[in-house]
Amino acid sequence: MLCVLKPDAYDIRISMSFSKYQFFFLGFLNLCLIKHLAQSQNHTLIFSKDNHFRNCSCSVDIQSCDYNLANLMCNCKNINPPKNKTSYNGDLTIWFSDTSTLGKLVNFTFVHNLKLSLCGASTLPTEYLAILGLRFLRVQAESIQEQSLTITQCNAKDRLCQVPTEPPFHISYLDTSLFNGLPLLKSYSVKNVSSIKEQFPNLPYSSWISATNKSYIVTLIY
Ligand SMILES: *[C@@H]1O[C@H](CO)[C@@H](O)[C@H](O)[C@H]1NC(C)=O
Ligand SMILES: *[C@@H]1O[C@H](CO)[C@@H](O)[C@H](O)[C@H]1NC(C)=O
Ligand SMILES: *[C@@H]1O[C@H](CO)[C@@H](O)[C@H](O)[C@H]1NC(C)=O
Ligand SMILES: *[C@@H]1O[C@H](CO)[C@@H](O)[C@H](O)[C@H]1NC(C)=O
Ligand SMILES: *[C@@H]1O[C@H](CO)[C@@H](O)[C@H](O)[C@H]1NC(C)=O
Ligand SMILES: *[C@@H]1O[C@H](CO)[C@@H](O)[C@H](O)[C@H]1NC(C)=O
Repeated sequence: MLCVLKPDAYDIRISMSFSKYQFFFLGFLNLCLIKHLAQSQNHTLIFSKDNHFRNCSCSVDIQSCDYNLANLMCNCKNINPPKNKTSYNGDLTIWFSDTSTLGKLVNFTFVHNLKLSLCGASTLPTEYLAILGLRFLRVQAESIQEQSLTITQCNAKDRLCQVPTEPPFHISYLDTSLFNGLPLLKSYSVKNVSSIKEQFPNLPYSSWISATNKSYIVTLIY
């Protein structure tokens, strides 16, 4: 039985056909929804503006790249560019205008539901951004309509639902040039990868990833 967690609590649409399992099923879905609503009351929004990084806690969705509205509607504070990588339990939104900012904010970060918005009209080079534990991604830019991609559907019994403390670890690589405008966001996963360094020599990895000798699921997003 699937409990698909969509990032936007307002956007949950349930379609199902009637069956004798309906009540059981509904009860289960309610549990999923309640759990998700409780978790996603506020989402984190981080952006950089005038050389400051702002970390906001927002209870409503803010139109991408509307910095003034975010400062007004959300609870924001200045932060230093994060040195150590963070892990996010809730939804994370990043507004960025260059790959270096994007890298500082999300490279090798652990997050399930991520939305990336490119602000401004810059063209991005091909660089790889590594995201850990990613399940649902939305991307948006001036030149591309918002697109979304479900990478893992979270099966309630599945360990992929929880923060993984043991293998397989899930690492997604996103090609930053996709923000320059692509018809469709796609992904490709390779399971049972024992060495990212050897099997994907062109992709970046962090020292802790190469240090563990474990099993990875590697997803390429392009
Ligand atoms: C942003 O704030 C949230 C709490 O609202 C915190 O969990 C997270 O670590 C912060 N991120 C950074 C990069 O400071
Ligand atoms: C949630 O966001 C609202 C503004 O959108 C803010 O006033 C409130 O402090 C936030 N709550 C938490 C727990 O950060
Ligand atoms: C960052 O991580 C390093 C090693 O993992 C640790 O020694 C250091 O104290 C951490 N710094 C902060 C600010 O958490
Ligand atoms: C992410 O980190 C890797 C390794 O440090 C680096 O090679 C890559 O360019 C970074 N990606 C971005 C978008 O900053
Ligand atoms: C994973 O790879 C190892 C060694 O490459 C192999 O022995 C094992 O059977 C593989 N497991 C699965 C589930 O494919
Ligand atoms: C990692 O695996 C290789 C071969 O699969 C083995 O030779 C090596 O000792 C392992 N390293 C650790 C730290 O377990």
